[in-house]
Amino acid sequence: MPYLIGVDIGTTGAKTLIISETGDVVASAAVEYPLYMPHPNWSEQDPQDWWCATVQSVQAALAQAKVAPREVKGLGLTGQMHGLVLLDKDGHVLRPAILWNDQRTGAECQWITERIGFSRLMELVCNPALPGFTAPKIVWVREHEPQVYEQVAHILLPKDYIRYRLTGEFATEVSDASGMLLLDMRQRAWSDGMLHALDIPGGWLPTCYESPVISGRVTEVAAQATGLPLGLPVVGGGGDQAAQAVGSGIVRGGLVSATIGTSGVIFAHTDEMRVEPQGRLHAFCHAVPGKWHVMGVMLSAGGSLRWFRDALGQPEKTVAELIGRDPYELLTEEAERVPPGSEGLVFLPYLTGERTPYPDPNARGAFIGLTVRHTKAHLARAVLEGVAFGLRDSLELLKGLGQSVTQVRASGGGARSELWQQILADVFGVELVTLNITEGASYGAALLAGVGAGICTSIEEACDRVIRITRHVKPVPKNVARYEEYYRLYRSLYPALKPTFDRATQMFKRGKSP
Ligand code: XUL
Repeated sequence: MPYLIGVDIGTTGAKTLIISETGDVVASAAVEYPLYMPHPNWSEQDPQDWWCATVQSVQAALAQAKVAPREVKGLGLTGQMHGLVLLDKDGHVLRPAILWNDQRTGAECQWITERIGFSRLMELVCNPALPGFTAPKIVWVREHEPQVYEQVAHILLPKDYIRYRLTGEFATEVSDASGMLLLDMRQRAWSDGMLHALDIPGGWLPTCYESPVISGRVTEVAAQATGLPLGLPVVGGGGDQAAQAVGSGIVRGGLVSATIGTSGVIFAHTDEMRVEPQGRLHAFCHAVPGKWHVMGVMLSAGGSLRWFRDALGQPEKTVAELIGRDPYELLTEEAERVPPGSEGLVFLPYLTGERTPYPDPNARGAFIGLTVRHTKAHLARAVLEGVAFGLRDSLELLKGLGQSVTQVRASGGGARSELWQQILADVFGVELVTLNITEGASYGAALLAGVGAGICTSIEEACDRVIRITRHVKPVPKNVARYEEYYRLYRSLYPALKPTFDRATQMFKRGKSP
């Protein structure tokens, strides 16, 4: 039987998934790697760590699946978007990769916007210059590390560095390329106007394919390292959000998903190019050929709960280890005992700055409304609710584009919690559904490989064949009414606190540099 592989280069680790032609998961292996934050607001990883974790996770998944390598017919890559990988002319990595949640490029974004002009920028690449995107990072390296910049010969995104190691090809695909601020979304090709305006050589960029198209084949060296068959086709794949959407069946107009990973994303498939006039939603190419998507991205969704677990959940971690349970389950069980609204406590989830709806590297997290009555359980519930409010901001922007939202598909690790699912349904005021497929981006990447390898005729057909709704979570009217009030309160907090966030950022910076 033919098998397909999806490899996801995530923020916390690499994951390899093997599925059968009928869509059953036959193996899954993940290997973690470190994240470096050498300065506040910086976020970096070593591309060599990604490669080592890929090799280990592919080997482990092949061993687990017990399939003969020759039965594997295609591999799709996915991964964290926007990261900047710089290589010299010999393909050597020049500096650590600068990641999607790195916020160092505020000044460069301002420079790009002033140099090109907001409306011309929207014309050229349909999106504003945001600190997470790739082009401002290239400008940052030119400004701050000229000795690195002068050696650059190739620019790649995280998953595309792994493609280079697997196939020797410098290639990407439209969905991930969309997040570089260098792609003409309408033409689905590099924007000469943008490259010219920023003075970035077009020759540094990889070849850009549609997502299910074969971009290269596994080389002998990579086959030996990983156990993959020599010559295995590697398709374009997708940025993690587009691949996640494929893995959730968001491949037709009208479908919307909410994904809680480290980031939190509201994603809608569009048959035509749709642009939010102020650029508050990303307007990107989809992994479905000739289609697009709009999405809102909050930077710390699951990341907020992870912060809470690490900062305040040590007792739960200890107990969880003793009784063989997940600390997140223990924390959400505590949160479940607190009523909706956390008795007047509101959490702002801007722990790593924010992107949608406030593109602001200085935005900060906050608990507002604390009293002596509040316990750790209240704090935990407020975190879950604050993330749901943040996602609702994107949903509201989507509705403003004329998209009707009657049902939202939940995906990502965070959305596995039944309490969080109910909070999302109540805060959104619409039905939330869960799916039989919970593997996310790596599953979508494997389906894209299935199309490229000719096992499925189209992405839509591949999704129809394997993805089903498993649970309907209806909003509870009295909770919807209560959350409506809390959402209005939440909406008022960022504008009120913005000057304080800016002051706190400046004070912290001054404190760091004598
Ligand atoms: C999408 C985004 C994140 C990263 C990491 O625009 O920045 O979702 O891809 O998951």
